[in-house]
Amino acid sequence: MTDLPAGVERRTFDGRERLATRGETVYGEPRDDDGWRAWDAGRSKLGAMFEYEMDTGLAGGESVLYLGAASGTTVSHVADFAGPTYAVEFAARPVRDLVGVAEARANLFPLLKDARKPETYAHVVESDLDCIVQDVATRGQATVANRNRQFLADDGRLLAAFKARSEDVVADPDEVFEGVLDELSEAYEILETTRLDRFHDDHLGVVARPR
Ligand SMILES: C[S@@+](CC[C@H](N)C(=O)[O-])C[C@H]1O[C@@H](n2cnc3c(N)ncnc32)[C@H](O)[C@@H]1O
Repeated sequence: MTDLPAGVERRTFDGRERLATRGETVYGEPRDDDGWRAWDAGRSKLGAMFEYEMDTGLAGGESVLYLGAASGTTVSHVADFAGPTYAVEFAARPVRDLVGVAEARANLFPLLKDARKPETYAHVVESDLDCIVQDVATRGQATVANRNRQFLADDGRLLAAFKARSEDVVADPDEVFEGVLDELSEAYEILETTRLDRFHDDHLGVVARPR
């Protein structure tokens, strides 16, 4: 079994073992008396990657750039176990909620920015980061990952979820993923890929490191 990072545990909620991190609740998830809150893999691609036991390379305490933070469901869990966590989201409405989520987390920094334009946040985000988590569900997902590679340390990790339908609604997901991985290989070495279908239809989880 792949080790979970420090700060991520399997805890029992309502008789069922689930992933959990320790922090304030965000999306109505159950929280136990010790402050651990359930991490719903059905609402989180990174959670699903842990459930599939992908080797994320995370040990806990890493510096993270999170692309596609939405209102903070997953990035709140990341900030519970990681170090400085920069959360990029380009839609203003979810960022309002994200700012509220960050109020309870001193290491979480919301950025209302377009992940396709890293030059607009390069002055804020530190370089040599340990990890990029990406879940942007938009056309050109590999381009987004490649453009943000500049923030990663040479031994850092990209943990990305690619949604086939965001690239092409009608194409066979396997063909879409082949094209995505081809493009991604321009900037990264692919270490592991796993379909996340048990939790997220037509999504590919990818662990990669910079070339
Ligand atoms: C599937 S949702 C993310 C869910 C979130 N990662 C979670 O697990 O809590 C995808 C998000 O990516 C955002 N997004 C799409 N394209 C983006 C871009 N170019 N820059 C920043 N955010 C983007 C969307 O607005 C949306 O909120």
